[in-house]
Amino acid sequence: MQHAINPWASAQTTDYQRIFSEFGIEPIEPLVERLPKVPPFIERGIVIGHRGYEQIVEAMQQRRRFYVMTGFMPSGHPHLGHLMVMREVVWHVEQGALGYIAIADREAHAVRGISWEDCARYGREYLECLYALGFRGTTYYQSRNNRLKDLAFEAAIKVNFSDLSAIYGFGLDTSLAHAMSVITQVADILFPQLDAGPGPTVVPVGVDQDPHLRLTRDVAFKLRMFTVEDRGEYISVRSKNAPPLALKDIACRFSRAKRYEGHVDLYGEDIRKVQDVVREVEICHGGTGFYTPSSTYHTFMPGLQGGKMSSSVPASLFSFDEAEAAVKKKVMSAITGGRTTLEEQKKMGGEPERCAIFQLNLFHMLPDDAALAELRKACLAGEVVCGRCKKETAERVANFLKEFREKRSAVAHEVGP
Ligand code: TRP
Repeated sequence: MQHAINPWASAQTTDYQRIFSEFGIEPIEPLVERLPKVPPFIERGIVIGHRGYEQIVEAMQQRRRFYVMTGFMPSGHPHLGHLMVMREVVWHVEQGALGYIAIADREAHAVRGISWEDCARYGREYLECLYALGFRGTTYYQSRNNRLKDLAFEAAIKVNFSDLSAIYGFGLDTSLAHAMSVITQVADILFPQLDAGPGPTVVPVGVDQDPHLRLTRDVAFKLRMFTVEDRGEYISVRSKNAPPLALKDIACRFSRAKRYEGHVDLYGEDIRKVQDVVREVEICHGGTGFYTPSSTYHTFMPGLQGGKMSSSVPASLFSFDEAEAAVKKKVMSAITGGRTTLEEQKKMGGEPERCAIFQLNLFHMLPDDAALAELRKACLAGEVVCGRCKKETAERVANFLKEFREKRSAVAHEVGP
């Protein structure tokens, strides 16, 4: 059986609308007006989909506690392709989220065969980049986090082999360690709530990671003892697999409660307060009270050479430590949306949407909205030639990298061994 999304495949799907409707990812557009502040990556159409982001918007509006978490697989140096997720994490931290970063060394070791030493070395580089971009919060390596491993084990109780086969296409030849790295990622996504108490969590990722989110959302629900349902006249708290004492406990915490065999109906209560109390009670009785995690999905930046951006195609990207001359060369030989001849270009204009250089500016190198709009306009009108545009972009890239390196060395001491 072919699976539409395989997180470990090298091919990248870009038919986002089809994938979104097939897998039930929502467009982010309708939520934009409720955001207290619209981040550039939404404004510029880079982050386009989500699951359950409403609860994150609400948490930001009401200044309630929420988390942002994501993970990086330390299978190589951090590069241009990682920058967007890093910026999304930092933005949410700036909006008040508690930040969590997992270095997925278990996954890198199990799936990519990276040695533990290399995992640690690359892991430090990722963390350095994050701190340099303004990240504050909790970071950990999967292999060194015992509470995470215990949580993964607990989560594993709720997942069987047929789930793994349906979601990832795992078969009889899939290694057990690969399955373990999957359940470790489930635990990553739930870890902030274990660490600091139940709360909405947003996981910014590329759409390739969506299978992990579907699985985690399912596990989070299965780990709950109760569901809370608004029935209009009353609120019904229903046991899924709660110990009887926990149900009794819920009834005792409210004045107008009717107790039944497997549920309690509450009158005159606020749903939010009921949910909070139910979570508290779950935790008292050994449960988790987890919120179902949310996610956002960004589009992928095209590779500089035109195809997909991938570390297996060196010309498609640059890493942050690459020599200046090499980076410049890659930018200067990137594919553009220019026409075959200068004459045609002047007449028909360029095609910024199909231009790796324009996308590079859109994603990262030209934060000034007015300047970006101006560039697009001039390109469409055939007023800029690609050679000059590439040269200007290469200068922006060089400045960015220089500044980034300086920031990295200033924060290097914050990164542990
Ligand atoms: N599997 C992710 C990748 O390949 C890395 C990862 C590990 C992750 N844990 C995570 C991503 C938790 C998001 C959330 O890049």
